Amino acid sequence: MFLRDRSDNPPVEKKVVSLRKHLRVIERTYVNNLDSDYTERIESLGKRFKYDENCQELWGEPEFSTLYGTPLFEQASPSQRLALNHLYWVGQYNHTANAEANTMLYNQVTTGVFEHIGGYETLCDELNFETSQERFHIATFQRIGYRTKLAVLGKDSLGNGSSKLRNSQKKIRKLLPKPLEKKLSTRWTSEESTSLQDGVARALTRVMYGRSPTYFSNYLSARMTQPVPTATGGLAGNTASPSVMKLITQVWGSSPFMACHYYVMRMVANMSLKAYEHQYFKRFKELERKGRDVALPTAVSHYHLLDEAFHTTMSQVIAQQVYHDMPEPTAAEKLIANLIVLQGLRGVVGGLSAWLPMTFRDDKYFMSPLYRLLQSPLFGFSQEDALYWMEKCLCQEHEGFHSNLRNHQALLATFQRFFVELDYLWPSNREVEPMTVGGSLERALHRNTQAFKDFLVSVE
Ligand SMILES: [Fe+2]
Ligand SMILES: [Fe+2]
Repeated sequence: MFLRDRSDNPPVEKKVVSLRKHLRVIERTYVNNLDSDYTERIESLGKRFKYDENCQELWGEPEFSTLYGTPLFEQASPSQRLALNHLYWVGQYNHTANAEANTMLYNQVTTGVFEHIGGYETLCDELNFETSQERFHIATFQRIGYRTKLAVLGKDSLGNGSSKLRNSQKKIRKLLPKPLEKKLSTRWTSEESTSLQDGVARALTRVMYGRSPTYFSNYLSARMTQPVPTATGGLAGNTASPSVMKLITQVWGSSPFMACHYYVMRMVANMSLKAYEHQYFKRFKELERKGRDVALPTAVSHYHLLDEAFHTTMSQVIAQQVYHDMPEPTAAEKLIANLIVLQGLRGVVGGLSAWLPMTFRDDKYFMSPLYRLLQSPLFGFSQEDALYWMEKCLCQEHEGFHSNLRNHQALLATFQRFFVELDYLWPSNREVEPMTVGGSLERALHRNTQAFKDFLVSVE
């Protein structure tokens, strides 16, 4: 079996791939994922969820609570601490839902590249199957999140939450693979017209790959009259602006090497998710062993981790192994791949949060949510008291920082074990330098103090 263009062009690379160990891993992953698939279970748990039936239990370990280790957490009542444990789940899975919406898009963009190459049919089948699983995951996270926020924070703090939820579910439906889309009677249409940004993104990729690149994504080819699809939230949203992401979409969809590179960034999401999901998984197992009741969100996390284990294997295999089968990257591709990793690491894990465990972004991005939380019915602080507690929690040393630094060290080691295998990366990227730089208490205090000053000006 040769790496070849399915359109009967001559083989481009005489590499025998059939005996490769990683192809067997992909076969096994696909069969096992089809076999195990927990999407129905996850969906039914989500549909049954009522906050008042689940509000008496911790959903995760106390260390995985919003504001954990801060002076405010120390003086919070038991019921407030319980609610903070629930809100942590909601916040993390809101982020996960956004990241998985990215996955739905880019799985299809890159599958459209792999479809051109013989020998990777199972890989494409698995990626399509993963895309269909993510839709159910996302809908469940959103449903539990919405009901919990409504119960804990009240209708006012949701703003136009319900219409936001409806809109985001509409967007998710637009990302469905065609066969699934028909089944659910939704339509693939876009009312937006193409813009200058789309023209620029397409022109730049023509400069890199010529007028009709051999491997150009079938998914993107079918949408040439529409805007270049892009992601605005999740990991992609933290990596680059939507217009830069359009260019990245085009590049990931133009060559087999770049399509494999997308899975480096997907693996960043997989590793970040597992860092907080695994404790829910362990909690579920422990409670099940003792024959005790399990809160529904804990069960959702448990089954989600089981589905995601297959996705993580795929990300790792494609990012670390499959790219070796592909034509060598050009100098421009190597440069772009490194820049995406650099920006992605800076945006996703380049800081240290004082009040959100296992979150490694600067708190300047989370000032408004914290301010709203402190003035919500859960705390009911006046503006003056809310600002007092923000200063204490963000700009002064406390146990929450130290606890999150320990989380940081553990995740950094995981990242380094993954990145060291990628021979085309700059040494600073292979060593995950942007994350190392972010893991500093002094730096976080300094940056939070500055961000808090700016925030004070904005609310005065
Ligand atoms: Fe998922
Ligand atoms: Fe996934």
